[in-house]
Formats: sequence, structure tokens, C-alpha cells
Amino acid sequence: MSSPTSLEDKVVLVTGGSRGIGAAIVRRFASLGSRVVIAYRSDHAAADALSAELSGNGHECLAVQADVADPDDITRLAATAADRFGRIDVLVNCAAIGPYRPLGKMDAPFVRSILDTNVMGTVLMTEAVLPHLTAPGGRIVNFASALAYRPIPASSVYSASKAAVVTLTHAFAKELGPRGITVNAVAPGVIETDMTTKILAERGDQILAMTPLARIGQPDDIASIVTFLASPEAGWITGRTIVADGGVT
Ligand SMILES: NC(=O)c1ccc[n+]([C@@H]2O[C@H](COP(=O)([O-])OP(=O)(O)OC[C@H]3O[C@@H](n4cnc5c(N)ncnc54)[C@H](OP(=O)(O)O)[C@@H]3O)[C@@H](O)[C@H]2O)c1
Repeated sequence: MSSPTSLEDKVVLVTGGSRGIGAAIVRRFASLGSRVVIAYRSDHAAADALSAELSGNGHECLAVQADVADPDDITRLAATAADRFGRIDVLVNCAAIGPYRPLGKMDAPFVRSILDTNVMGTVLMTEAVLPHLTAPGGRIVNFASALAYRPIPASSVYSASKAAVVTLTHAFAKELGPRGITVNAVAPGVIETDMTTKILAERGDQILAMTPLARIGQPDDIASIVTFLASPEAGWITGRTIVADGGVT
């Protein structure tokens, strides 16, 4: 029999858990014995497949559809997770959208859609989970991006939304520290997911050449940072954003 890990039986809610980096995070927590809520917006097939895969391997999980840009959905998601598992130990705010547009092509719906999902979603998810979050000992891991520090052309609104997440992380850590809850963020460079299919097709060779570790980042590279930040071993780290980009910056 394998020995218990420090994340065994923890209740973990991962937004954007159906695909890409979020799905790798879900799998990693499950492999460490955590019980996982897989939150997703629209890709039922991906969420169902992941849920079936984990259940088939004996892991406890629950897939919940919820749009993090919709405050009612957020409230329902947090309540559903708490009803099922009795508490939430870890919140991973991973859901985001990342469309690019240059100046000259901006309009209000475009800007709002990014800010609603990436910024408001992070704020209101945190707000909704807080009454159910274990304290002391609770963990929040947010998703920024290396672009928050070094935007590229046409990424302005997405990059600014991720800079907001860096600041929210710092501020929330100060507010929640006295309750024994840590709040940190991960800022990945380019990771191979659906979000980066186009950019990797157009500039993959250039990105590879800029990367000291000489490969394109994979979702698992980020999942292991998230489980570390969620673990008791990371209890003295809060308010930090960890850039993980293979050395590019
Ligand atoms: N990939 C990269 O290179 C990279 C780099 C830096 C930062 N990041 C950040 O890392 C995180 C994960 O990125 P990824 O590449 O894994 O993205 P992805 O493959 O595009 O997956 C996005 C996930 O977010 C969910 N989602 C999107 N909008 C949502 C909404 N309004 N409500 C609820 N769920 C929503 C999607 O659910 P559905 O499929 O159901 O719609 C999906 O599960 C994001 O925060 C992203 O900004 C990624």
C-alpha cells in the first residue's frame, strides 16, 4: 500500500479543469489522493471524459458546468462543491480566455469578455468559495501569465487581465493571511494547449529558440507547481507569483 501524501483527501476545486493546464492539474491532484471538482464552461465532452477517466481509476471527482463570467453560476458552483464534499481546501482559479486583438480592432464586448472571465471570475470565485474554505490551511492558486510582465503585440487586454491577477493575488494574500489562508499565482510562459495552437503553429520555432530549457512547456510542468503551492510544505509562501517559462525571461 502506498503511503498517504499531504494532499490526500483534500477537496480541490479547479476552474477551467476540463482541458489544457486545468486538466493536468486535476489529474495531478487526483493522483495524490485529493477529491477534485472539475469546473468547466462549455466543453461537456472533455469534462465527462476526464471525469470518467478519474472515476475509472478509483478517484473521487465531480464535474460541474459553470461560467465564471456569470455571478449566479459561480455561487451555484461553490455551493455544489461544498454540498458534495462538506468543505473546500484548495481553489485553483485556472479558467481564462486569451483572444488577441490589436489596437484599431478593439470594441467593448471584446474587452469586457476578457475582463469578466479572467478578472471578475477570479474575484467572484474567491468570494464565493471563502465561506467554505478551510481556515487555517486553505489555499488559493490563481493563474497569471508571463505576458503580465512582457506583453507582446495584440495581447494587451489579455496581458493586462493577467497583470490584474498578479495584483489581486498580492492583495488577497494580505487580507487572508491572518486567517491562515495562502494566495499565490503561477505565471506560465507558452504552454502547449488549445489556447496556444495558433501561436505555436506561427512562431513555435522562434519560441523554442528563445527557451533556455530547449523545449515547449507542457501542462504537467505547471501542474506540479500548483500542487506544491497547495501543499502544507508551501505554507510559508503567500502573495507570490511564480513565473514558469523555461527560462525565457
Ligand atoms: N497555455 C498557455 O500558454 C498559457 C500561458 C500563460 C497563462 N496561461 C493561463 O493558464 C490557464 C489555463 O490555460 P490553458 O492554456 O489550459 O487554456 P485552455 O486549454 O484554453 O482551457 C481553458 C479552460 O478554461 C475554461 N474556461 C474558459 N472560459 C471559461 C469561463 N468563462 N467559465 C468557466 N470556464 C472557462 C475552459 O472550459 P470549456 O472548455 O468548457 O469552455 C477550459 O477548461 C489560463 O488561466 C491561461 O490564461 C496559459
